[in-house]
Amino acid sequence: MLKVENVTKIYKKSASLFKREEDFVALNKVSFSLEQNKVLSIIGESGSGKTTLAKIICSLLPYDDGKIEINNKNISDYTKQELSNTVQMIFQNPYASFNPKLTIGYSLFEAVNENIKNKKDFIKEKLALVDMEDDVLDKFPHQFSGGQRQRIAIARALLKEPKILIADEPFASLDVINQSLIMDIFYKIKKEQKTNIIFITHDISSAFKISDKILILQNGNMVKYGNIEDIKSDKTNEYINELINATYLMD
Ligand SMILES: Nc1ncnc2c1ncn2[C@@H]1O[C@H](COP(=O)(O)OP(=O)(O)O)[C@@H](O)[C@H]1O
Ligand SMILES: [Mg+2]
Repeated sequence: MLKVENVTKIYKKSASLFKREEDFVALNKVSFSLEQNKVLSIIGESGSGKTTLAKIICSLLPYDDGKIEINNKNISDYTKQELSNTVQMIFQNPYASFNPKLTIGYSLFEAVNENIKNKKDFIKEKLALVDMEDDVLDKFPHQFSGGQRQRIAIARALLKEPKILIADEPFASLDVINQSLIMDIFYKIKKEQKTNIIFITHDISSAFKISDKILILQNGNMVKYGNIEDIKSDKTNEYINELINATYLMD
């Protein structure tokens, strides 16, 4: 349903007065696809281009070459509204996800599409999916922990009933308990089969737990794209070995 073909992204490094403008290739001909009811993980060290790729798929960033289609339609042919109903992204930092001046209820109601009849029930249903009670609605973002905010951010993304949910290092600032709570939520979303997940992480072991396919990036280049067996059986690839060893060190 999502097809990414040879996507290339070049950041123009800001030129100083005496230096010529330098190009930086953040993504170099990256290709992959996401199939219905499958979870795809994008793995790579910091700086490998994961967030850039995620933002490009959501049309938050332009790209320089290649093609991206969702359900056989180029993402540039989607209106902003259509795309936001199709792809939702959860960002790395749950503290920046919500407007601190607005109640959670306000932020969530605002995210519900007009065609939904009983907005409150609809919101409650999504909150239940992330194990939050509806008493969160009258509260403000600062009254919640990072893990709770991340779960509310997932609920808000699901209010759009998107075909694709991109979670960009959703565990980055969370403790182990919150990480596993959120992992369980992704399992539930996967089981419901309405939303397909792109899971971005630098931790290959959590990707092994939930993914059907894995894309490994290094400095904007594709190192490997395949199913878990393909990745695990590739003993000769040094970067993959490094990622696997890094996981064991963390545990
Ligand atoms: N707006 C930008 N301008 C210039 N370079 C950028 C910009 N955003 C990201 N980069 C560079 O692109 C590379 C990939 O960044 P990013 O996509 O954030 O990687 P990741 O999410 O894997 O850590 C990094 O080297 C980063 O410094
Ligand atoms: Mg990132």
